[in-house]
Amino acid sequence: MNNPFVYGEIAVGKAFVGRKEELADIARGLQAGERIFLISPRRFGKTSLIVNLLERLKNKGLMTAYIDLYRAASLEQLAALFAEEVLLKSETRLETLARLAREIVPLLRPKITVEQDGQFSAALDIGKSKSEQSAALAELFDAAEKIAKKRGKRLVIAFDEFQEATALGGEPLEKLMRSVFQGHHNVSYIFSGSKQHLIADMVNNKDRAFYKLGRVLFLGKIPEKDLRVFITERFAAMGATVDEAAFRRILSEADSIPYYVQYLCSFLWNKCREGAGLSEKLVAETAAHIADTQAPLYVGMLENIPLKQRKILQVVSRNPGEKLYSHEVIERNRLGPAPTVQVSLNLLIKKGILEKENGGHVFCDPFFRLWVVKNSLLKSV
Ligand SMILES: Nc1ncnc2c1ncn2[C@@H]1O[C@H](COP(=O)(O)OP(=O)(O)OP(=O)(O)O)[C@@H](O)[C@H]1O
Ligand SMILES: [Mg+2]
Repeated sequence: MNNPFVYGEIAVGKAFVGRKEELADIARGLQAGERIFLISPRRFGKTSLIVNLLERLKNKGLMTAYIDLYRAASLEQLAALFAEEVLLKSETRLETLARLAREIVPLLRPKITVEQDGQFSAALDIGKSKSEQSAALAELFDAAEKIAKKRGKRLVIAFDEFQEATALGGEPLEKLMRSVFQGHHNVSYIFSGSKQHLIADMVNNKDRAFYKLGRVLFLGKIPEKDLRVFITERFAAMGATVDEAAFRRILSEADSIPYYVQYLCSFLWNKCREGAGLSEKLVAETAAHIADTQAPLYVGMLENIPLKQRKILQVVSRNPGEKLYSHEVIERNRLGPAPTVQVSLNLLIKKGILEKENGGHVFCDPFFRLWVVKNSLLKSV
């Protein structure tokens, strides 16, 4: 019997929980030609949602493409990735690339390199000068609309880790993408990324190219009722019962964040498999054990955090959600001048350690929070 809880991979098939409404809503929007920005804190399940969504749309007869911008380290690689995912999805041979490039995007020349390990790597020669590159990329992106029109089918393109477009090509690339995508009527786009504040800025900042280019959708946590069914059924299948106290503790230790819920349940499942009884106590012990095993990572993280910010982490660790902007809280915890607290909080958010939630602040990693609370060094608040 395989462990049914998946973490650190895209959740598909039976491992995918809930998200029925989101799937239906986004699928409807994309089918109608919408552009959608999907925003959430890290590890809430954006990629899993997108992959399941594209599968669903493909089954409905639409064409789909998934582009993970983390896979591209240059504009040439972005071009190759786009060509591979959008132009070549159903074709496999390298010659097809040449033919397609000749017929659909004549400005591009395929550049196949044999790497030291004998593997082929494909890139597209998009020219050297900035204007050559822009023209080639515009033509390539436009090929998506041509293909969709030619086949008489809507094409849905998902850009994951979209904030990387800025690193890859800066403002000129963003502007170019906007002007091309805006003219497409047979292609729908969904943009998402793990750096929430960067994606949010791209779409909310009126000085940026993607300002108001589409509907912004905030992905929340998976509702409790879906998790309750999923978790109790998976444990029941191996003979363990999850009582209400244990279930509540799973949610609170993992802060109901999809990744950490699965992570904790996966460990618990292994323990039950070895004969342990599932109880609230076991959940608490397992969470503490996970936090301990992550100590080297957490120590490394703390080393890069200045003292002022560490103090803030101590306060948040004990009072998740506390509104650190309030004078009373700042005074009580002796955090120093309010503007400095503000700067520190913003830096901690930028570093991906804290997240805003309901006007307060919480840890992105609930096991890091647990570790900070437990760590004796930090008891001096
Ligand atoms: N709908 C879901 N059903 C089951 N598990 C899920 C679901 N969504 C997310 N998870 C859990 O969360 C983990 C992270 O999911 P995913 O990679 O999709 O999130 P993400 O928001 O794209 O993360 P990142 O911001 O780091 O890119 C998965 O490996 C899985 O454990
Ligand atoms: Mg992701």
